[in-house]
Order: sequence, then C-alpha cells, then structure tokens
Amino acid sequence: MKVAIVLGTRPEIIKMAPVVRECQKRGLEFFVLHTGQHYSYSMDKVFFEELELPGAKHNLEVGSGSHAVQTGKILAGAEKVFQQERPDVVLVQGDTNTVMASALAASKMGIRIGHVEAGLRSFDRTMPEEVNRVIADHISDYLFAPTVQALDYLREEGIVKGVHVTGNTIVDSVFQSREIARRKAKALEELGLKKDGYLLATAHRAENVDSKDRLSGMLRGMEMVSGDTGLPVVFPMHPRTQGRMKEFGLRSDAIRVIEPRGFLDFLQLESNARLVLTDSGGVQEETCILGVPCVTLRENTERPETLEVGSNVLVGTSPSRIRGGATVMLKASRGWKNPFGDGNASERMLDVLEASFEAPAVDAMGVASGEASRPSAM
Ligand code: UD1
Ligand code: UDP
Repeated sequence: MKVAIVLGTRPEIIKMAPVVRECQKRGLEFFVLHTGQHYSYSMDKVFFEELELPGAKHNLEVGSGSHAVQTGKILAGAEKVFQQERPDVVLVQGDTNTVMASALAASKMGIRIGHVEAGLRSFDRTMPEEVNRVIADHISDYLFAPTVQALDYLREEGIVKGVHVTGNTIVDSVFQSREIARRKAKALEELGLKKDGYLLATAHRAENVDSKDRLSGMLRGMEMVSGDTGLPVVFPMHPRTQGRMKEFGLRSDAIRVIEPRGFLDFLQLESNARLVLTDSGGVQEETCILGVPCVTLRENTERPETLEVGSNVLVGTSPSRIRGGATVMLKASRGWKNPFGDGNASERMLDVLEASFEAPAVDAMGVASGEASRPSAM
C-alpha cells in the first residue's frame, strides 16, 4: 500500500503530523504532497521543523489566490503528482481548498480517498469550508469521523459505507506535543506572561475578518473583556487578518498583536490562558482538550461537542455578546470530558487502511462494507 498524505495549510500540517508519524512507525510506503496554500515561515515551515516532519516530496507552490485559481492549480498539480507516484490511497484532512481539490483529482483518477476529520457540518453553505468538506465526504472511500456526532451527520446524508469513528488526530497531536511544549516553549517567558494572567485571541475566518464591521466588532469585544478582567489580550495574528487590519485602517492599543507562533508556543499560550476568544476550528477543539474555556466568535460551529460538554459558547462578533459570553465562560467549571478521542486516532486509521489493502477479496472498498463502525474503546 502506497499512501499519499496531502496537506497545504497550518492546521493540516498539525493534524496530519500524527498520521505521518504512524506511517513512519509502521514502515509504510508514503510521501507528503504539500500544495503550498500556506507558505510563510510562520504558517508552514515552523511546523515541519518543530514537529520533526519529513519535508514534502512534492510542493505545488500554489500560493494565495481566488478560490477558483487556488482550487484549479491544486487540481491540475495534484493530478500530475498522482500520475507520477501512483499512490493506492490519498489522505486529506479537514475542509480547505487543498482538501477539496486534491480529493477531486484523486477521485477522477480512480484512486481511493481517505478523509481525515470527515462528517463535520456547520450547515452554513456560505462558508467555503462547508462546501469543501461536503464534497470531500461525498467522494471519499474511507471516512474517518472524529466523533459519533460526525458519523450521524454523514448517515443523514446517506453516507454509511467506509465510515469509521476514530477520534480526531488533534488529540494525538496535542498529546504528542504537550510534554515537549512544557520543556521547550518560550512564549510565556518571551512575552512576560503568567498562567491565568492574560486572554488569548485568534481570528482568521474570511466571513469575519473580511468584513470591517465584524472585525472591528471582535476587536471592541476583546477590549471590553480586557477592561472587565484587567487582563491583556494576546493576539497572534493570522496573515489574512493582518492584511485586513491594514486595509481597513484598524488598530487597538488594548490588544497585543504578535506574529503567529509555532505549535509548541501556541500550545503553551493556550494551556495557560485565562480564556480564549477565537473563530478557529482547531482552537475550539484544543481548548476543549486542554481544559481552557473558549468563547467562539461565530454564530455556528461544526464542533457542537464543545458546546455540549460546556467548554465553549457561540457569541458571533457583536461586542456585547462577546462580553456576555466571556463573563459566562470565566465562571465555568473546567472539569469537562474531552469528546475528541484518546490520542490514538491515527493508529485506528492506519489499522483500517492496512486491513483493507491486506484483504481486498473481502470487500473491494475496504473493511466497513455495510454499517459504519462505531468506536470500540476511545
Ligand atoms: C485557509 C482555509 C481555512 C483554514 C485556514 C487555516 C480555505 C478556503 N481556507 O484560510 O479553512 O481555516 O487556511 O489557517 O481553504 N497568507 C500569507 N501567508 C501564508 C498564507 C496566507 O500571507 O502562508 C495570506 C495571504 O494574503 C492570503 C491570505 O493570507 O491571501 C489568506 O490565505 P488563504 O490560504 O487563501 O486562506 P486562509 O484565510 O489562510
Ligand atoms: N496555531 C498555531 N499558532 C498560532 C495560531 C494557531 O500553531 O499562532 C495552531 C493551533 O494550535 C491549531 C491550528 O493552528 O492547531 C488552528 O489553525 P487555524 O486557526 O489557522 O485554522 P482552523 O483550525 O480554523 O482551520
């Protein structure tokens, strides 16, 4: 079995890292295809270095562009690489343009596709990510659903074949890096911060930061929470958001804007924050795993498990609702259960793939020919 691991953006590198390590551990034949959707050092190389990942064998270097341009370049570029490499299975992770375009290239070539983090739904088709994940799910052969909720969403769309509840590889990634972060991360020291002595913020969703009203609403809300608590806001700012701040002429003296950090530093910043304000999918999961309260600057989430366990609230981008949500979450007790798995998601995925390629006579599409498989012990 030859495996192609496709990635292109920051969260894909972080969430595919455990899958890469599992392939290495098993001595499997695999290669990494990087689309180059993210390319700045702080959004790309820093993660390969810190997480000690093998460099990508192929990099399409598609860079930034409109959705059509980016998607089109990945589609054509991935096809060339797949023609040359002839992988048996292509693994994609999440919901970016990288995922949708590379899965489509594989689908048209009749190559099996494994979707890591399948079955997430925000039910908001105005988000490019929702369209990407729906398409990827409907053309995938192996659907690695992180939770039973995700499996149920897939079932509601008629997808039952090839679905496996594995947990989310973000848990694997956090567990594998948490100890190293404790020893090596320097963010607290460098920034002069103390445990519970600051609020951490991130924001990058196009629907939030590409609107001057919503971006300034989020900043105002953060300033209000900072005023209420007397704690500074530390905001490692995504390049999209940095660009919009300049374009809209926005600034805030109360918010400490810093460059995006590597994963080890960011884990340290998250773990020690009094509260996190974010519109990131991955950060909603990580705060839930790390036991840190989260306020999500969106009206919906494809991670409803975080709301159910009580680690997260949705507040949108209006300053008063951000302030209200923060007040609630600052009082929240932190003993919730992590719903995203036990840190062995990538192991389960590789078990499924290896079993499927070892015994093709049983079922041409793999092990789960009928009913989707629910978790045994996560
Ligand atoms: C993309 C994904 C989003 C994911 C996010 C993770 C899509 C449609 N969006 O959003 O789902 O949550 O990545 O961070 O796939 N830029 C740089 N350097 C980089 C990358 C981007 O400066 O390395 C700047 C460019 O100005 C670019 C902008 O950021 O135009 C947006 O980048 P893009 O990859 O298009 O979308 P993201 O907002 O990063
Ligand atoms: N992250 C990081 N440094 C930062 C901000 C975020 O390493 O300065 C990590 C974070 O730990 C999480 C991932 O980036 O694993 C989330 O990526 P992002 O918010 O860009 O995308 P999303 O998860 O919303 O798709």
